[in-house]
Amino acid sequence: MPTPGTLHDAFLDELRDAYDAELQVTKALPTMVKAATSPKLKAALEAHLKETHRQVARLEKAFGKLDQKVQGKHCDGMAGILKEGKAVMEEDLDKTALDACLIASAQRVEHYEMAAYGTLVAWARSMAHQEVADLLEETLNEEKSADSRLSLLARDGINKKASAAAAPMASSTR
Ligand SMILES: [Fe+2]
Repeated sequence: MPTPGTLHDAFLDELRDAYDAELQVTKALPTMVKAATSPKLKAALEAHLKETHRQVARLEKAFGKLDQKVQGKHCDGMAGILKEGKAVMEEDLDKTALDACLIASAQRVEHYEMAAYGTLVAWARSMAHQEVADLLEETLNEEKSADSRLSLLARDGINKKASAAAAPMASSTR
């Protein structure tokens, strides 16, 4: 009988999952940047694309520190989130509503990643992989900041603009 996997095996598996998820994000973000109409949102998504490339490199470094080859494992969760995001972009929405929906999709991505990295950091620390934990924590903090920046953009205008555009429609149905 094969020996059951350990937490370390599960950790490597999650790391490969995160690597694949980040690669998926690097492919999806350029389309979201193109679709965004608010210059501030475009800039925020573009900045996060650059950050995501650095996060990919950081994961490659983590594999190295663990003496593992760099390897991804298809992340179904991220694929589902990105598929939903793509479907929203294909809907016929006015540009302010589209921007609001892009923020919603991007925040789903961030929250998924925050959950994944939160676990990875905790597991790495519990198994005394301190350097790897530090690397992953750097990414976790970047994901949290990206999420906060998106919340700010939504609160500081994009949602308001989108609701203003929706208001005439709402009153005409009354
Ligand atoms: Fe990321």
